[in-house]
Amino acid sequence: MITLVSANSKYDKVIRKEDNTSFNDDELKGYNIFKAKCSSCHQEPLFTNHQFENNGLLPDTSLNDIGRMKITSNVEDSLKFKVPTLRNCEVTYPYMHDGRFNNLQMVLFHYSNDIHTTPTLSPLLKNKIQLSEPDKNCLIAFLKTLTDEDFLRDTTYR
Ligand code: HEC
Repeated sequence: MITLVSANSKYDKVIRKEDNTSFNDDELKGYNIFKAKCSSCHQEPLFTNHQFENNGLLPDTSLNDIGRMKITSNVEDSLKFKVPTLRNCEVTYPYMHDGRFNNLQMVLFHYSNDIHTTPTLSPLLKNKIQLSEPDKNCLIAFLKTLTDEDFLRDTTYR
């Protein structure tokens, strides 16, 4: 597992200033929105802060998954889930612990319109995340720069 490292996405090349790679306008705008609104949880360079957070998903009453609390029995951990990396997220659908969202548009609709308030909701999300439609398109353009084709096609991992 330790050899499974994805570090050759367009994002990585831009950060390393490799081969004159640069973001296009939408990607750059998306990156700035991302740093302002998403990166406290999805922190660079791995795009996770390695914490457990409640990101406002409506609790699923059929699975009844209480998240981290199942392990710790601490009510403060109720509905907290591991913050996942967003590297290669273009291809890792369906999203969230129960796979409830099939595409990135649905994920962004969740953050902008559908945050569900429970006692452990992250304070960062209590006013939802304001995103216009163009903002969402730019964010998705940025998220796609985290796709690492070399990693995904590497036959060592088959
Ligand atoms: C308060 C912390 C927090 C903030 C802020 C946050 N996220 Fe998340 N994000 C999470 C957690 C926790 C999960 C996993 C929830 C689960 O497994 O049910 C997640 C899951 C995701 C996923 C699904 C990944 C997968 O593989 O299933 C995407 C995509 C995502 N977030 C994008 C974003 C974007 C874009 C923003 C900014 C608009 C953002 N997040 C802001 C905590 C956060």
